[in-house]
Amino acid sequence: MPRGSTAQAPKGPAATAHERELLSQALARHLPDVPAEVPGGSASALLPILHHVQDALGFVPQPLVPEIAAALNLSRAEVHGVITYYHHFRSAPAGRHVVQICQAEACRANGAEALMAHASARLACAPGSTRADGAVTLEPVYCLGLCATGPSAMVDGQVRARVSAATVDGWAARFESTT
Ligand code: FES
Repeated sequence: MPRGSTAQAPKGPAATAHERELLSQALARHLPDVPAEVPGGSASALLPILHHVQDALGFVPQPLVPEIAAALNLSRAEVHGVITYYHHFRSAPAGRHVVQICQAEACRANGAEALMAHASARLACAPGSTRADGAVTLEPVYCLGLCATGPSAMVDGQVRARVSAATVDGWAARFESTT
């Protein structure tokens, strides 16, 4: 199959026309960066392509996994493994509000585990999931660069330091008033 082709039919749910077009754009942009003579070189385009898709859609649709794999001469398991290894990538759309609480070492030393438990209870959302009503996604992340002022979090794209249970309660009240 020519490099960058997405012609191979995937098994399972089919990608939408928009998703296929997006993947074609990602392949056109990122595959030429990889010399064809480099063994396994096209695999190095996987991360940029996943970022391209997620930046546009907010997640990497499952039907695109076999198409990405075919285009890069990878197995589906390899593509799926990368998506699930990196916490940044999502396999499903996020909620209307996204709360990410750092669980790396420095923040854990400042109560990040208890803060995550409080957030999970207050937001009625298990860590690593999206609430059934689609209002909130709660995720662990591993370092936001505010290690000296933890516990740290990112809420709807804004980084916050010295987050407390009361801070979380404020987010919950705000989410409830806007959903
Ligand atoms: S360890 Fe939490 S921001 Fe770095």
